[in-house]
Amino acid sequence: MKILILHGPNLNLLGSRETGIYGSKTLDEINSELRKRAGELGVDIQDICQSNSESELVDRIQAAQGRIDGIVINPAAYTHTSIALRDALLATGIPFVEVHLSNIHGRESFRQHSYLSDIATGVVAGFGSASYLLALQGLVTTLQREETDRKRSAP
Ligand code: DQA
Repeated sequence: MKILILHGPNLNLLGSRETGIYGSKTLDEINSELRKRAGELGVDIQDICQSNSESELVDRIQAAQGRIDGIVINPAAYTHTSIALRDALLATGIPFVEVHLSNIHGRESFRQHSYLSDIATGVVAGFGSASYLLALQGLVTTLQREETDRKRSAP
């Protein structure tokens, strides 16, 4: 099972950025934890990408079609603005889990709307860096269950 991890804008600053909200772990530390958990779950993290650019994130999603089974994405500020990311995810149809370190529903009103949540397999928010690990676990569990169901219903 091949998984893509996408991190949106300003997440390269984790570790020093608003640590009271986002915690003190760096993005490298979070990525290492994700790779370790992927190993434990027996899945392959094919690629991890952080970008401040909406177009690069769209390109990564498009390029994942046919190569990637599921995406864990923290769209960061693009969560609240990006129809382009929504359309890319809809176009590829790749199952994805939306992740946030903070609980966006307990923050400013503009953060409480997501352009992605209603089309996501699931959403994890508010558990700091553990949100990513929970998201990976949830995505893998869902993909494995779907695979089992497909095999069972095959003639
Ligand atoms: C975030 C929440 C967003 O509102 C914010 O713009 C981010 C990070 C989070 O992980 O809590 O950059 O996605």
